[in-house]
Amino acid sequence: MLKAMPAECVDLAFADPPFNLNKEYSSKINDKISEVDYLEWCKNWLDEMVRVLKPGGALFLWNLPKWNIHLGAHLNQQLNFRHWISVDIKYSLPITNRLYPSHYSLLYYIKGEKPAIFHPDRTPISCCRHCGGEIRDYGGYKNKMNPKGVNLADVWTDIPPVRHAKYKKRSANALPLKLMDRIIAMSSDAGSVVLDPFGGSGTTFVAAELTGRHWIGSELDCSAIAERFASLQGDKEHLLDIQTNKNILFKQDDLARQKKSGRKLSKDYRLQINGDDCQCDTDEIVQSSLFVNS
Ligand SMILES: C[S@@+](CC[C@H](N)C(=O)[O-])C[C@H]1O[C@@H](n2cnc3c(N)ncnc32)[C@H](O)[C@@H]1O
Repeated sequence: MLKAMPAECVDLAFADPPFNLNKEYSSKINDKISEVDYLEWCKNWLDEMVRVLKPGGALFLWNLPKWNIHLGAHLNQQLNFRHWISVDIKYSLPITNRLYPSHYSLLYYIKGEKPAIFHPDRTPISCCRHCGGEIRDYGGYKNKMNPKGVNLADVWTDIPPVRHAKYKKRSANALPLKLMDRIIAMSSDAGSVVLDPFGGSGTTFVAAELTGRHWIGSELDCSAIAERFASLQGDKEHLLDIQTNKNILFKQDDLARQKKSGRKLSKDYRLQINGDDCQCDTDEIVQSSLFVNS
């Protein structure tokens, strides 16, 4: 499919290939080949992804650190490195004599000097799951905090593994919708073209579709994708929840927890309701059904 595509036609290219871990895929691919062959195979499709990427376009590669250290060295020869994003998700059991593997690598590259599109999400202040209180003390900087949330860092600790039966689209390997929404929101606009050559359960395509992007992809066994697209209602609700809880300084749930535990939010924070600055207190915000991100 990649070979059939014209050069420079894609705004955002993302890949989550098999990791050569001897996993079973419904497409029956051999997921245990030699390290040399695996890296050669990856470099082949990466070169095609680079070719079809528009100038200023973004390429993201999701893999284990073990593979991305090699694949990053290869991409460095053709693209501009932006970030190694660590996504804190435990993916293996502890192994004797090793550190506990606890992050996936998300490589982020740009074709050319400057990204054509870059608007990273802002994240809400992290709060205690029990009392809603801020986990970090922002001291005298509270009034300097952007009412739309905290700057996105290159370590993502807020991506939940796909565990919930309601959101889990198939037995293995589906990426969280929140991850794909974040990548797509950062490096594409409505109307942009998003590419993912390893469709799996179609998470990239769903996030792209529901946010008004065009998308193109491939998969050896498309049955899970076809089934998912037959009813997108669950994904729509999940995405609405994800989008309601980004680009805001406090999640409404956390404010409700603060209120329940008798905490008072500092008046120094600048908050917004419906995109407008507000001087209101926690009660008003918790009660407001208008507290949505703009
Ligand atoms: C790790 S999964 C991708 C999961 C996906 N990101 C999601 O969220 O559901 C990798 C997928 O690549 C597919 N695949 C492997 N080789 C392929 C190829 N040559 N062309 C297209 N798809 C391929 C496999 O069938 C598998 O579903």
